[in-house]
Amino acid sequence: MHHLLKRAAADLAAAQNVVALTGAGISTESGIPPFRGKGGLWERFDLMEIAHIDVLRGDPAKVWRILVKEMKEIVDQARPNDGHKGLVKLEELGLLKTVITQNVDGLHQMAGNTDVIEFHGTFAWQRCMDCHQRVETHKVDMTEIPPRCECKGILRPDVVFFGELIPPHHLWRSRQVAADCDVMLVVGTSAIVQPAALMPVIAKNSGAKVIEINPESTPLTHQISDYLILGRAGEVMNRILAELEQVIR
Ligand code: OAD
Repeated sequence: MHHLLKRAAADLAAAQNVVALTGAGISTESGIPPFRGKGGLWERFDLMEIAHIDVLRGDPAKVWRILVKEMKEIVDQARPNDGHKGLVKLEELGLLKTVITQNVDGLHQMAGNTDVIEFHGTFAWQRCMDCHQRVETHKVDMTEIPPRCECKGILRPDVVFFGELIPPHHLWRSRQVAADCDVMLVVGTSAIVQPAALMPVIAKNSGAKVIEINPESTPLTHQISDYLILGRAGEVMNRILAELEQVIR
């Protein structure tokens, strides 16, 4: 693993424009469970029974009771970990320009990254299913489930459910930054949900190096990514940064 840490440090040091694509795995060390794998949300719930737009439309109270309330409690308590902080350090070094995240927890912004594309939306906001007015999640009165807007319409998290489109401006910009970067760091994503998983493919096709950080291999490994650094995001980021300090000193 040590030679891969050195290689990553060298690739980052030589880069002008680094972009990160992150997934649930970067937030597990902040206490937020991932979707897939051991301890993942989908072990407990059937994805299409709970996170599909048709279910939200048909039975919003069920989605609120099972998914949203619990998620709110978990996200409220979560704080950035060394994985998020490492990406901030890379931005401070002038290397990292943009984070494309599939996460809705807001931890990249809380850590201090300034250009974060929330590919799957954000849990920090709710929006009315009738009048589309947005309201900050912490201001929502949750004594009644599902909570309602001033217009009496039902509020829903401002996140992308299965069966919904990625907000077009997020998709467009993500494709752009993926095509323009010279290194893409792919951190903590199983890389199986589209179109997010296409961003490393776009980066690769445009000539970028693609570096994965994950305790497991993914469909990108040995196909799209140049190499995989096996391990947890926090520890691996710390070790890459330590190597990077040697290179750019
Ligand atoms: P997943 O839950 O599918 O994958 C999490 C990935 O993180 C796995 O590859 C794990 O091996 C890895 N992982 C676990 N712990 C880690 C750690 N400490 N450090 C680094 N990696 C770690 O999450 P996503 O890929 O984000 O969509 O899932 C993509 C989308 O599927 C989500 O955005 C969500 C979900 O359905 C929507 O909500 C629309």
